[in-house]
Amino acid sequence: MKGISLSVPSEEEMREVSSYIHEYELDDRSLKKEEFVIAKREGKLVGFGRLRQHADCEELCSLGVVTPFRRKGIGKAIVKEIMNRSKRPLYLVCIIPEYFEPMDFRTTANYPAAISNKLSFCTIQLVVPESYCVMRFR
Ligand SMILES: CC(C)(COP(=O)(O)OP(=O)(O)OC[C@H]1O[C@@H](n2cnc3c(N)ncnc32)[C@H](O)[C@@H]1OP(=O)(O)O)[C@@H](O)C(=O)NCCC(=O)NCCS
Repeated sequence: MKGISLSVPSEEEMREVSSYIHEYELDDRSLKKEEFVIAKREGKLVGFGRLRQHADCEELCSLGVVTPFRRKGIGKAIVKEIMNRSKRPLYLVCIIPEYFEPMDFRTTANYPAAISNKLSFCTIQLVVPESYCVMRFR
């Protein structure tokens, strides 16, 4: 996307990411900056996402775009970068499957233990009116 650069966050940038993760009520467990991709515009953090490594798979999680910068293709650019970095079966847990479907994620009822744990965490700790679903890339 034009005017956007993607990179791994510095320590300072990771603190900013962490504060947005809390603000947007995303998964904040065991954050590791090396697993994150951030998007910057004119030197400012505008979005972030994580390719989390599990023993049995990878997970796209903690995806967020800073509110005034939404609907400009930044989330999509971060997801694409995470897909490019992914080397093993890639899953995610979300409440907006319609957002991920055009990017080749499909809902599935078969997933590894780490994703099952994530689904339980979301259902119990991140309570929302919508239902959570698991999706797998391709
Ligand atoms: C979900 C989120 C990451 C999307 O980021 P974004 O930068 O606004 O999304 P994009 O601009 O890349 O959107 C890509 C496409 O998805 C559509 N879209 C955007 N948000 C959507 C949503 N919430 N539901 C369904 N479709 C959506 C856009 O219209 C766009 O379509 P187009 O390519 O035809 O124009 C952002 O809204 C966000 O940070 N939300 C709060 C945190 C969150 O819900 N994270 C996801 C947890 S799984």
